[in-house]
Amino acid sequence: MSVTPAAAPGVAPDVARQVPHHVAIVMDGNGRWARQRLLPRVAGHRAGMETLRRVIGWSVQRGVQVLTVFAFSSENWSRPQDEVGAILRLMVQALMDEVPRLDEAGVRLHVPGSRVGLPSALVQGIAEAERRTASNDRLVLNVCFNYGGRWDIVQAAQALAAHGEPITESALAQAMALAHVPDPDLVIRTGGEQRISNFLLWQIAYSELFFTDRLWPAFDEVEYDRALAAYAQRQRRFGRTPEQVQAARAA
Ligand code: IPE
Ligand code: IPE
Ligand code: MG
Repeated sequence: MSVTPAAAPGVAPDVARQVPHHVAIVMDGNGRWARQRLLPRVAGHRAGMETLRRVIGWSVQRGVQVLTVFAFSSENWSRPQDEVGAILRLMVQALMDEVPRLDEAGVRLHVPGSRVGLPSALVQGIAEAERRTASNDRLVLNVCFNYGGRWDIVQAAQALAAHGEPITESALAQAMALAHVPDPDLVIRTGGEQRISNFLLWQIAYSELFFTDRLWPAFDEVEYDRALAAYAQRQRRFGRTPEQVQAARAA
């Protein structure tokens, strides 16, 4: 039997890496943050946008190459209509306000998710933003919007089926909405819940998970560093034994 360490397909064998290459975040807790301050929920979403702006900066400073955030899930359509409308408007506004700044900072923006049901102004804004930032290489920012992990797997399988391609792990991975980046190394969820809520499913097979009670608008640099420090302490084995991992590190 071969003793060559082999990472799972699509998983970077970066056990010795201290800073995660790819950080994914479930930005949860906006509503509760607002409620605690007797503000409407949408005020929490607005404050959450500010947090995201700061996290982008900290990520670049720390050498994170890919940041993926969950902004609106397939299931969030079930919220009251006025909240959904406010989130859609905030996204349109954010694209108008932020894209020039992101572009200047060298951020390449992607918006993984279904376009079905989105207002045409938003669909257009997304396409323009993706086009404008396509050649940037400082940080890849994936803002998952109208995204669901199950939707992603199904749309990838459908794309393969439509072309009559055999369904293999690598073909499916290539057809998924995050095929342009390696799988997340670290997934952070704020807001105290310890669940995935249909965020990335396929891609987090070997991600390290970090849960914090901190509500997203209150997530700060110290808490981000706590997550990065926790990640640096983890031993990623990808199915191997601890001894194999240590031997591979020493080699
Ligand atoms: C996350 O914050 C943002 C979205 C899901 C759009 P929430 O709005 O879920 O905030 P809580 O969980 O109700 O506090
Ligand atoms: C997950 O948060 C979705 C986003 C952060 C966009 P939710 O607040 O929708 O998750 P649940 O409903 O509590 O699981
Ligand atoms: Mg929530």
